[in-house]
Amino acid sequence: HILGILCSGRGSNMQSILAAIKSGQIKAEVGIVLTDKPEARALAVARENGIKSICINRKECKDQQDFEEQLVAELRNAGVTLVVLAGFMRILSPYFVGEYRHQILNIHPSLLPSFGGAHAHRDVLAYGTKVSGCTIHFVDEGMDHGPIILQDTVPVLENDTEETLAARVLEKEHILYPRAIELYVDGKLELVGERHVRIKN
Ligand code: GRF
Repeated sequence: HILGILCSGRGSNMQSILAAIKSGQIKAEVGIVLTDKPEARALAVARENGIKSICINRKECKDQQDFEEQLVAELRNAGVTLVVLAGFMRILSPYFVGEYRHQILNIHPSLLPSFGGAHAHRDVLAYGTKVSGCTIHFVDEGMDHGPIILQDTVPVLENDTEETLAARVLEKEHILYPRAIELYVDGKLELVGERHVRIKN
């Protein structure tokens, strides 16, 4: 497999994926890293690792379709067979999802279907749940909606702030995302119907 990683910011999940490739856990290569923002740290991380990286600045695109057509062109050009959204803070339209159906993974820092959207930790703390976590799922047309592959949990502690909770969840993200990609690459994920992912052994 050839991975295409899409990031908007820091890129720590991407780094955990690169480490898992280096260690041999994930038997794949990264063909390209794409960002929607020129300031994304992920661009520098990719460069340091000798991986081709390109920013397609959303603000300079005519519209969402134009933006996504450029993303798809770069992914196709790099021969990407699995699209990995790693802190990519944009919603992809049915056009993009249709181009890579069941070949797009996303990570979300809550236990879906609870607390989707861009402020998961803030929403968890405001609601007062005692447990949070992270979710890896296939991307479909709905936001934070597609079939769930893996989830893991963390406790929410009394004195948590958004930052402390995010850090506790992020540690789990860095383990869970490489694991999900490994399962995909090894052909161990089977979609049953529209919603259920079976993990073969
Ligand atoms: C992660 O918490 C991810 O789940 C969320 O945004 C954060 C991205 O972090 N959607 P990074 O860019 O991978 O460091």
